[in-house]
Amino acid sequence: MTAPLIDTFGRTVSYLRISVTDRCDFRCVYCMSEHMSFLPKKELLSLEEVDRVASAFVARGVKKLRITGGEPLVRRNVMSLFRALSRHLESGALEELTVTTNGSQLGKYAAELADCGVRRVNVSLDTLDADTFHAITRWGDLDRVLGGIEAATAAGLKVKINMVALKDTNAHEIEPMLRFCHERGHDLTLIETMPLGEIEADRTDQYLPLTAVRAGLEEHFTLIDLPDRTGGPARYVRVAETGGRIGFITPLTHNFCESCNRVRLTCTGTLYLCLGQDHAVDLREPLRQSEGDEALHRAIDHGMMIKPKGHDFVIERRNARPAVARHMSTTGG
Ligand code: GTP
Ligand code: 5AD
Ligand code: SF4
Repeated sequence: MTAPLIDTFGRTVSYLRISVTDRCDFRCVYCMSEHMSFLPKKELLSLEEVDRVASAFVARGVKKLRITGGEPLVRRNVMSLFRALSRHLESGALEELTVTTNGSQLGKYAAELADCGVRRVNVSLDTLDADTFHAITRWGDLDRVLGGIEAATAAGLKVKINMVALKDTNAHEIEPMLRFCHERGHDLTLIETMPLGEIEADRTDQYLPLTAVRAGLEEHFTLIDLPDRTGGPARYVRVAETGGRIGFITPLTHNFCESCNRVRLTCTGTLYLCLGQDHAVDLREPLRQSEGDEALHRAIDHGMMIKPKGHDFVIERRNARPAVARHMSTTGG
């Protein structure tokens, strides 16, 4: 089966995000509750099964695979998956194999990732202040992450920093972060906090619209809109004064669903058709039904028929229920 993946709104799916674990060695306040319960390990797809699903998508024209979590690099033996998937880069069927990580394990794995054909990594880093870092991640160690970023650069990987914009916590650090990134040749992407999963904090308090951030940056910098797209949701500008790029991910202030090109596989084999909706199909059962991939492809085709038009995130009402109950870490960001 090689027919391309086109949904009922005419959008072609060329990007698969794969969450290989819902676990993480951090507990970021906007992402997780302090006392999370995780899935029993026996419910996870094996890495061989993940490879089979990913390969089925590559056969259907997917050009970009991103490994996510939770924290993907805490999944045992995860490098065997990168190694296996790298064959699709070598054959030319796949254009990009990449990862979104909190950076805690990059010191250990950066060189091996590069050896598997990974060219870029996205690292979540919301602050450069050790106390704020601890306040946001609860369990994280800033120096370890900074060391991981250096290891990635030393291994020849291009680094993009993801910073979730939080009104009282890190808004004042956006400019220092921009300088930190651009001095080192990293792109910076700012993200609006999204209402996914129950957490202790009220997201309304921390929500910072990126329209306001952009206006603030324009008081000090010249921002030049760029047509560049990475296949992801960010819209990029070049900062004339630093020469570097900033991306804006604006699900709240500027919905980008009309050009959506992606679907998400969870670590238990559920395919979610949208980050902000519950539409999903199970791929585990068809995967395990037989060694052939016919049932798997039928389930994927069904997914294309039910991919929704878009999310309807709002962060307006105080203490509003999240748009979807599952956490970002379950669906893979
Ligand atoms: P690039 O390949 O560098 O463009 O990365 P990416 O933006 O596709 O991936 P990354 O894992 O760095 O995700 C950054 C942020 O974008 C995360 O907070 C994701 O949840 C968010 N994001 C990715 N895809 C979507 C989407 O379809 N809808 C929404 N609302 N957010 C998304
Ligand atoms: N809203 C926006 N971004 C989030 N992330 C995790 N949870 C949320 C949320 N609720 C970010 C992480 C990481 C990326 C995959 O998603 O910081 O950079
Ligand atoms: Fe872990 Fe990323 Fe969630 Fe932080 S945002 S708890 S690093 S999965």
